[in-house]
Amino acid sequence: MTDQTAILVEGLRKSYGRHTALAGLDLSVRAGSVHGVLGPNGAGKTTAVRILSTLLSADGGRAEVLGVDVLRHPDRVRPRIGLTGQYAAVDERLTGQENLEMFGRLYRLPSRVARARAAELLERFALTEAAGRQAKTYSGGMRRRLDLAASLIMAPAVLFLDEPTTGLDPRSRQEMWRVIADLVREGTTVLLTTQYLEEADHLADRVSVIDGGRVIAEGTTDDLKRQIGGDRLEIVLAEGDDTAAAAEVLTRLGSGTATVSVEDWRVSAPVAGASVLAEVVRSFDELGLTIVDVGLHRPSLDDVFMTLTGQGATSGDVGSTAGVPAGAAPEGSGPGRKGPPAPPGQRSGGDEQDLVKA
Ligand SMILES: Nc1ncnc2c1ncn2[C@@H]1O[C@H](COP(=O)(O)OP(=O)(O)OP(=O)(O)O)[C@@H](O)[C@H]1O
Ligand SMILES: [Mg+2]
Repeated sequence: MTDQTAILVEGLRKSYGRHTALAGLDLSVRAGSVHGVLGPNGAGKTTAVRILSTLLSADGGRAEVLGVDVLRHPDRVRPRIGLTGQYAAVDERLTGQENLEMFGRLYRLPSRVARARAAELLERFALTEAAGRQAKTYSGGMRRRLDLAASLIMAPAVLFLDEPTTGLDPRSRQEMWRVIADLVREGTTVLLTTQYLEEADHLADRVSVIDGGRVIAEGTTDDLKRQIGGDRLEIVLAEGDDTAAAAEVLTRLGSGTATVSVEDWRVSAPVAGASVLAEVVRSFDELGLTIVDVGLHRPSLDDVFMTLTGQGATSGDVGSTAGVPAGAAPEGSGPGRKGPPAPPGQRSGGDEQDLVKA
């Protein structure tokens, strides 16, 4: 592990009973970067985040955060990380100010310091006006911001964000993205899980696509897009034009076999870059082919995801609400725990082992 690596995961395994959630996960996250973990429902994203943030034990493999073995020394990792879980950690009966102060107190800050830190974070997340209101009166976006604020009480070096914008409207999502980008500028390393490909595209320096508990592709979003065939040139010809001749030209000049859609006189082919366009136009001209419409289409991360996992992901701005199971109380680091508090955002249940009590 180099000094530059903030998170290192090798062959991480976790099963719930007979069900395998992580089947040998590998991750390497450079310090100061945003790493996106992308995967369909049930891929193992939350399981990975919970192990890395010391809330869950693993069955095997290696996991290090800032050079410290998470599995062996969770207590040494905890003070240096923050977590915003998939489900809200704030206590909705408390006000925004009270919630943040409570987290500060759980981290053993003197009350005066906790109060000041709470006010500072509320200001930062544009919640000062709402500071005195119970969190249950907050909008979804305000709650997510409060959640994130709670995980920043101790200015962590590494921040885990499990689907930070699920269920938010486009504007709240953009706000959240801005806040995350600010944190990264200040040097925080962020590991972010998401189902929004647009979010990974916007925020992540590198992305790991996971499915069935292991990584199936890794790289920058551009790498991943290139991996499935680069840009696609699409040309619509005038009705009656010779599509076969056009396809021949595209196949020759492009980087793969052209396809023809006969009904709408459309031919397309993967191309290495926009530079071939001029040559295509010239060749079409010589053959007397008339171009009605032309477009260079970058494969979206959605295309990548579909190609790799064989299933679509939640893309675009249509927010789906994170389902909080019935009866799930808002949870944070409950008072009365021994030792340093676990980062906010945890949920207990299932056959998870609680490392804090262990
Ligand atoms: N406490 C648990 N007990 C039993 N099985 C579990 C438990 N938690 C998760 N699983 C199973 O492990 C697999 C991975 O779950 P995980 O929550 O890590 O997926 P995820 O990628 O976060 O999914 P989502 O996108 O829905 O949040 C799933 O098949 C899930 O059903
Ligand atoms: Mg999850």
